Amino acid sequence: MAAWPFRSALVTGASSGIGEAMVRHLATAGVPTVVVARREGRLRELAAQDDGIEVLAADLTDREGLAAVAQRIAADGDRAIDLVVNNAGFGTSGEFHALDPDRLDDEVQLNIAALTRLSRAALGAMVPRRRGWLLNVSSVASFQPAPRLAVYAATKAYVTSLTESLHEEVRGTGVHVTALCPGLTRTEFQQVSNTEHYQSNFPSFAWLDADDVARAGLDDVARGRALSVPGLVYKGMAAATGMTPRGLVRRLSGLVQRQ
Ligand SMILES: NC(=O)c1ccc[n+]([C@@H]2O[C@H](COP(=O)([O-])OP(=O)(O)OC[C@H]3O[C@@H](n4cnc5c(N)ncnc54)[C@H](OP(=O)(O)O)[C@@H]3O)[C@@H](O)[C@H]2O)c1
Repeated sequence: MAAWPFRSALVTGASSGIGEAMVRHLATAGVPTVVVARREGRLRELAAQDDGIEVLAADLTDREGLAAVAQRIAADGDRAIDLVVNNAGFGTSGEFHALDPDRLDDEVQLNIAALTRLSRAALGAMVPRRRGWLLNVSSVASFQPAPRLAVYAATKAYVTSLTESLHEEVRGTGVHVTALCPGLTRTEFQQVSNTEHYQSNFPSFAWLDADDVARAGLDDVARGRALSVPGLVYKGMAAATGMTPRGLVRRLSGLVQRQ
């Protein structure tokens, strides 16, 4: 069992994929966890498997839903939250000029605006307490542009940048802020983002397991790392991207997305 320091947690996007895997790891480690997503039935199924799970069904693109989650994060005393995981997010694959503009609004609202609001709520509660952990789920897509997944990559570039800034801002306060940057991970993401063709376009070694990604993120935020990039393939890719001329990275990214 993992010896994490968290005494309580809140995970958004807990109804499937990486978020659900995090909740299972936290439950095994005995960490009481508030689970957030829109599909309340899925959250209730999770809660039925462990006494320590509190269900908070909310749509984070909705003003009231977001405010309710921010309020829960700000609670003090017995209800204080030690670890906040901003994991809810989605992407939209396709030619930018032809995508549904309302869907892109929701993507920006969830991946950027909601994450910012909940990060503010988390640090507002944690810094005065001089204790806490914030894990923002970004992506390796944040390290370079991604033609045909352009808005998604741009939202994740924001998440990594914001999170690294906050990591430095709270240095020495007892609060730790980490960006989790997974590569391709088998979850409902592919179905939701219209990237199911990735399953056949990318080799098996490129695929990560949601359980492993979830554990790596929780381990790295507990260690106080700024960035968590699970898997050797993606650690190498992130390092190589930093050393490659920007124009070349852009062209290669365009070729990969064209597959
Ligand atoms: N899978 C990958 O290849 C991959 C790679 C890099 C980064 N990521 C990132 O990892 C995170 C988790 O994604 P995943 O792969 O686990 O995908 P997933 O299985 O589709 O999970 C997404 C979660 O977000 C929740 N969510 C979506 N819209 C929401 C809304 N408006 N309000 C509240 N919750 C909402 C979903 O729950 P409901 O539908 O029940 O609301 C679900 O629990 C995302 O930020 C994603 O960008 C994924």
